[in-house]
Amino acid sequence: MLERAASVTDDAITIPIEGDADIVAARLKSRQLAKQVGFTGTDLVLIATAISEITRNIVCYATGGQMTLTAVTEGRRRGITFVMRDQGPGISDVQQAMRDGFSTGKSLGLGLPGARRLMDDFQIVSSAGQGTTVTMSKWLR
Ligand SMILES: Nc1ncnc2c1ncn2[C@@H]1O[C@H](COP(=O)(O)OP(=O)(O)O)[C@@H](O)[C@H]1O
Ligand SMILES: [Mg+2]
Repeated sequence: MLERAASVTDDAITIPIEGDADIVAARLKSRQLAKQVGFTGTDLVLIATAISEITRNIVCYATGGQMTLTAVTEGRRRGITFVMRDQGPGISDVQQAMRDGFSTGKSLGLGLPGARRLMDDFQIVSSAGQGTTVTMSKWLR
């Protein structure tokens, strides 16, 4: 019988992001998968922090969204990719939103730029009326 080669690219988990409890669930799931992939110590904390910020934005500024987590292998590197999507109002000026200290709320305005610094790859696609999608990855060193 042909066995499937052990691969870390198989599991994609999608969870809904709608309220505070989902932020906690997203952190836990991210940590679980990141550990499975091989991340340790500080990296686990950095990943959880980035996930918290982006999921919190979904809960605060949109009303609903989803997060998909995938363990990935790209050539010789292994890592984890998160796609966080919402169907909220979108961001009309993404460049401005990515600036340290910019906030339309009462918070610090460090969520998006912070997450970008904490992860290795970071992409945001958003426009007014189109919702927001953040895709970010961290690679094992
Ligand atoms: N998912 C989102 N949908 C709509 N607007 C968003 C979203 N995420 C971020 N924003 C906008 O970008 C700004 C900056 O976000 P962020 O850097 O996390 O700082 P903060 O959340 O402290 O305001 C927010 O104030 C908000 O206007
Ligand atoms: Mg924020």
